Amino acid sequence: MVIVFTNTKGGVGKSTLASHMAIFLHDTGAKVALLDADEQRSSSSWVSEAEPAIEVWVATTPETIAEAVNELRPQFDYVIADAPGRIEDESRTLMLLADLAVFPVTPSILDLRSVAQAVDVLKYARTINNGRPDAILVLNRIKKRDTISKELAAVAPSLGLRVCNSSVRDLQAFRNAAQQGTVVTRLGTSAKEAAKDIHAVFSEVLMQGRQKVANE
Ligand SMILES: Nc1ncnc2c1ncn2[C@@H]1O[C@H](COP(=O)(O)OP(=O)(O)O)[C@@H](O)[C@H]1O
Ligand SMILES: [Mg+2]
Repeated sequence: MVIVFTNTKGGVGKSTLASHMAIFLHDTGAKVALLDADEQRSSSSWVSEAEPAIEVWVATTPETIAEAVNELRPQFDYVIADAPGRIEDESRTLMLLADLAVFPVTPSILDLRSVAQAVDVLKYARTINNGRPDAILVLNRIKKRDTISKELAAVAPSLGLRVCNSSVRDLQAFRNAAQQGTVVTRLGTSAKEAAKDIHAVFSEVLMQGRQKVANE
């Protein structure tokens, strides 16, 4: 299964969640590859340092991305792709090749606008690919869960996207994990709350991905 973390905006947690997802899946015993399509290369450096057993590739042009996905897909249970923070051909290519698109979004109006743009790319891919990929919006860096959940519930239908019931809080543990070249699920009790959020969100995201694949 190819899962892409995408949004037209930077700083929403694409690389953080993609890196966490790759290691989360690896730790369940799955065969995982990470494909970093962002020139900043944050997820590829992060995952290489945190877990050398994960296959890490960098591809930053539409042609090399397509080649990489085609090579990795049959060899791995999961290919986790980290998209660049803009709509260019790289993001479109990833969207066309993905089984599941995860849109991280942080609580600001601007972010919701960028998701609306990213949804246009999703619609384009779905038109070409018979309704694929499946997609889910994940709230990240939440401070007050209640307020933003209400705001998002109000706009979500207009975006035409499913929203993950669980969300990821804004927690220092995520910054600590990045600094230490590891993930919150491996940090022990100091990152217990962050690990709880990661487990809840990823279980929900993966359940949706598996249901979709099972239905095909
Ligand atoms: N849930 C979170 N809590 C606290 N900090 C976070 C969280 N998610 C991401 N960050 C921080 O936000 C910044 C942007 O995240 P990043 O994953 O690099 O975003 P993107 O890849 O979308 O540009 C990073 O400094 C990261 O450590
Ligand atoms: Mg990034």
